Amino acid sequence: MTDTLTLRRPDDWHLHLRDGAVLRAVLPETARDFGRAIVMPNLVPPVVTAADAAAYLDRIRAALPEGSGFTPLMTLYLTETTDPDDVAAAHASGLVTAVKLYPAGATTNSQSGVRDIDRVRPVLERMAEIGLPLCVHGEVTDPAVDIFDREAVFIDRVLDPLRRAIPELRVVMEHITTKNGLDYVRAAPAGLGGTITVHHLVINRNHLLVGGIRPHYYCLPVAKREEHRLALRAAATSGDPRFFLGTDSAPHVDALKETACGCAGCFTATNALSVLAEVFEVEGALDRLEAFASLNGPAFYGLAPNPDTITLTRGAPVEYPARIDTGDGPVTVFDPGFPLHWRVAR
Ligand code: DOR
Ligand code: ZN
Repeated sequence: MTDTLTLRRPDDWHLHLRDGAVLRAVLPETARDFGRAIVMPNLVPPVVTAADAAAYLDRIRAALPEGSGFTPLMTLYLTETTDPDDVAAAHASGLVTAVKLYPAGATTNSQSGVRDIDRVRPVLERMAEIGLPLCVHGEVTDPAVDIFDREAVFIDRVLDPLRRAIPELRVVMEHITTKNGLDYVRAAPAGLGGTITVHHLVINRNHLLVGGIRPHYYCLPVAKREEHRLALRAAATSGDPRFFLGTDSAPHVDALKETACGCAGCFTATNALSVLAEVFEVEGALDRLEAFASLNGPAFYGLAPNPDTITLTRGAPVEYPARIDTGDGPVTVFDPGFPLHWRVAR
């Protein structure tokens, strides 16, 4: 049996780092093994302008461990008052790698997001012109739509009309959780990629709800039926260049998860690569882990893969902390529910 695996250093194409004490605690968990990450802008207040992104980048750099080679790739939070010129300048200077679309009210800190997609048309057209990708939280917020259907309905009501209206716009459908999302990405002519998280490869909605509610498995988009999880595993392990890793590792301190109205988010940064390797091994696809975690993402973004490599070794079960302590309280690490055998050699 294979017991070592060397791959180009992976990147995370969707990551929440937060700010302040939580940033300082969680950043080393990602920076340890990942080369780069697309950093989500849903802070309070959100990262809307180039100036906001530059200031946030400074705070991230200040929180990086000494000697770390990790590169944060910054994003802007799209609002209905976003200025196309500011976005274009942020792109031209190399400060931002993508813009994020949150439908208003769809998830954590999305209240400043977009209510009427027509109102951001000038920004999206400008992004298409300059080749700046749009990362999309693909869920409708219509209260009449069942939460398990919100991704599929978003494709029909928002994403497909948007892509038809601005076909040159490069779009990442983030954290895909349904077969519908996978099929939509596969059917697109070009310019559409999809990220898949680690936790959606592992849990379905039963993990969240059977035998008691498990707040640490609650995330958005919410985990779906088993058939969707299996479809996600098939897509991630297929080598298809349109699919790549975006962990959506989303730390919330336990007090905000284990409560009557808990926040959405699974914190996977600590064990993401070990869990992924386990999944790919079970699927007989270890030889395709590098495509998913290290090659397909940079290819979509027009970037080179990381120049260096990491090596995973297989052995006795990996020990990892159940929680990461932060100055604001503990953050629980995602429990995949099975032992992990692959560790990153250091
Ligand atoms: O589970 C999630 N957590 N989904 C999101 O879209 C946002 C994220 C967060 O910021 O906590
Ligand atoms: Zn996210």
